[in-house]
Amino acid sequence: MITVFGATGTIGQRLCAELSAADAPYRCAVRDPARALAVLPAGARCVQADMQVPASLMATLQGVQALFLLSSHDAKMAKNQIAVIDAAVTISRSRTPLHIVKLSGGPYMRPELPLQVSRQHLAIEDALQRSGLPYTILRPAFLHQNLLRFASRIAQHRELTAPFGEQSIAMVDADDVAAAAARILLAPGGHDRRTYSLTGERAWRMQEIAQTLSAVVGHRVRYRSPPVWLAGVAQRLAGVDAEEVKHNLEMVRCVYRAGLGAYTSTDLSRLLGRAPRTMQTFLERHRAAFVPS
Ligand SMILES: NC(=O)c1ccc[n+]([C@@H]2O[C@H](COP(=O)([O-])OP(=O)(O)OC[C@H]3O[C@@H](n4cnc5c(N)ncnc54)[C@H](OP(=O)(O)O)[C@@H]3O)[C@@H](O)[C@H]2O)c1
Repeated sequence: MITVFGATGTIGQRLCAELSAADAPYRCAVRDPARALAVLPAGARCVQADMQVPASLMATLQGVQALFLLSSHDAKMAKNQIAVIDAAVTISRSRTPLHIVKLSGGPYMRPELPLQVSRQHLAIEDALQRSGLPYTILRPAFLHQNLLRFASRIAQHRELTAPFGEQSIAMVDADDVAAAAARILLAPGGHDRRTYSLTGERAWRMQEIAQTLSAVVGHRVRYRSPPVWLAGVAQRLAGVDAEEVKHNLEMVRCVYRAGLGAYTSTDLSRLLGRAPRTMQTFLERHRAAFVPS
C-alpha cells in the first residue's frame, strides 16, 4: 500500500492520476476527505489525516510500504513533515521499514541561503537521513504550472509581467515530477538514499518564454520585469496573502535573480526513460489560458 500526503495539490493530484493509471494500491492522507474526493481520480481512497495531529498519522501509516511526503511551503512545513517521519519511524520498529519519497525544494538549496523554505526543506531532509528509514528525495525546479499565475495578465495585456530579470531559470512540468514520484513509489528498491534534481533539459529566460508564447498565441507577447518590491505590492493588491508574497519575493531575490535557478540535470530523463516535457508543449497545452476568453 502507498500513502500519498499532499494528494489534493498541484503535484499530488497528478501523482494520484499516475497511481490510478498503474492500478496501484494507494490511499490519500487528507485533512478533508469529502473535499479531496472532488479533485481526485474516480475510485481514489482517502483516509482522514492531519500532519498536525499525531494520532491521525499513526492510524494512516498502518500497513503502508511506501509514503509520498509533501505539504504546502508554509511556516509549519518542517514541523509537520518531521511529525510524519517520526510516526513512520515508530511504526517501522515492529515491521519492515516503510520507504519515504520526500518532495523537497529546488536543486538550488544550500544551508547558507537566507531562504526560509530552503531551511525548512533541508531540516526535513536531515530528519529523513537520521531516521534510519529508506528514503528518496526529489528536488524539482520551478514548475511550468507556476507560469499560469501570469496568464490572465498575458491574456488581457499581451504582457508577461514577472520580476525575474534577465536570468535563466530551469523549469519542469508537474506531470513529469508526478510521473517520477510514481515510478519510485511503485519500485523503491533501487532509489534508497538517493536525491534527484528534477529539471527540464534547458533553462529559459523569461524573454524567450514570451517569444515562444507569441508564436503559440499568434500575436506578440512582451516581457516586462518590474522591480521586486513593486511585484510584491501587485501581489498583495491581487489578494495573495502576506506570507506567500514574502516567500515569492525571497525566491526571486535569493534564487532566480541571483542566477541560482539555472541548474539543469539529467536525473529526470534517466528516471522516466524519456525526455522531459518541453516548455513549448506546456504553452501549447494551456494556450486557452493565455488568450482572452
Ligand atoms: N511550485 C514550485 O515551483 C515548486 C518547486 C520545487 C518545490 N516545490 C515544493 O512543492 C511543495 C508544494 O507542492 P504543491 O504545489 O503540489 O502543493 P500545493 O498545491 O500547495 O498543495 C499542498 C498540499 O499539502 C496538503 N497539506 C498542507 N498542510 C497539511 C497538513 N497539515 N496535513 C495534511 N496535508 C496537508 C494540502 O492539503 P489540503 O487539501 O488539506 O489543503 C495540499 O494537498 C512545497 O513543499 C514546495 O516547496 C514547489
